[in-house]
Amino acid sequence: MSDELAQIAARMVAPGKGLLAADESTGTIEKRFKKLGIECTEESRRDYREMLFTAPELEKYISGVILYDETIRQRASDGKPIPELLAERGIIPGIKVDKGLVDLPFFPGERFTQGLDGLAGRLDEYRRMGARFAKWRGVIAIGEGIPTSQCLRANAESLARYAGLCQVHGLVPIVEPEVLMDGAHDIKTCRWATEAALHEVFDALTRYRVGFKDMILKPNMALSGADCPRQAPPEEVAEMTLACLRRTVPVAVTGIAFLSGGQSDTVASANLNAINVKAQALKTPWTLTFSFSRALQASPMAIWRGQAENKTAAQQALIRRARFNGAAALGQYDPEMEQAA
Ligand code: 13P
Repeated sequence: MSDELAQIAARMVAPGKGLLAADESTGTIEKRFKKLGIECTEESRRDYREMLFTAPELEKYISGVILYDETIRQRASDGKPIPELLAERGIIPGIKVDKGLVDLPFFPGERFTQGLDGLAGRLDEYRRMGARFAKWRGVIAIGEGIPTSQCLRANAESLARYAGLCQVHGLVPIVEPEVLMDGAHDIKTCRWATEAALHEVFDALTRYRVGFKDMILKPNMALSGADCPRQAPPEEVAEMTLACLRRTVPVAVTGIAFLSGGQSDTVASANLNAINVKAQALKTPWTLTFSFSRALQASPMAIWRGQAENKTAAQQALIRRARFNGAAALGQYDPEMEQAA
């Protein structure tokens, strides 16, 4: 099993490719649809995601797609199960398996992730449906006196127990401890919170005997808080992000795929590119790519707006962002590409 998992993990971070996170819960996608006046029904969610997954040449830049429980059970309009549609194109189907966030009792402003109960059985079912990797997201907020060590530890323990279960049940775990960009803090604060989170996560993964070559880490980039008056430029984001990764992530980890976390699509591409340029200079051992939801989907969703006649233009917008991020994963993105295309 382990060889197979390592091979899947390597395919997920193949050079110039990354992951499309399309695993928004129904509540989250409803919020995004509502802002654009798109009706949110089971059918419209299917139509939207089918539009994404059938974009011509998606497989050139996208190695895998993270699905939501509803979507992995859906069929495309021609009757083909969605995971099969992806696999036929050489895109690996994955699945979000956590059950969302709840408040951490006695720790105001902090949360932990639910979903370990019954997880083994759900993983077996998802694997039978074609999923080959899974995702679990822990969330860490920055604020007055937070994150606390209790929050970091609770999230790290859950991530490690989830990751071990995935590996035993034949799925590559994406381990995602997301330090949120909400707040007015500076990039250094984010850098230290991220480093503390990753330190706890790898401590827990080690204690729970999780295989590093059979997993993918999905971290945030070290960024200025969204409301910070000074937004750090890409070179500084790269320096701070790589500083935390180099101090915490074992060499044996197969790959790192960043979340976008609310950065605009162009900023996310520029930051990913700067990280790769710097990583090449530092000769870091891991592939560093993307696992974006918003930074890939914002423009195609805004163009699609629930109208079938916008499908081709929306698909072109998705491919454009996927191509730019594929280039950024190789350190070959240039903001000038945005104008030229
Ligand atoms: P964003 O890229 O929008 O942060 O989403 C990635 C993701 O999958 C969060 O879990």
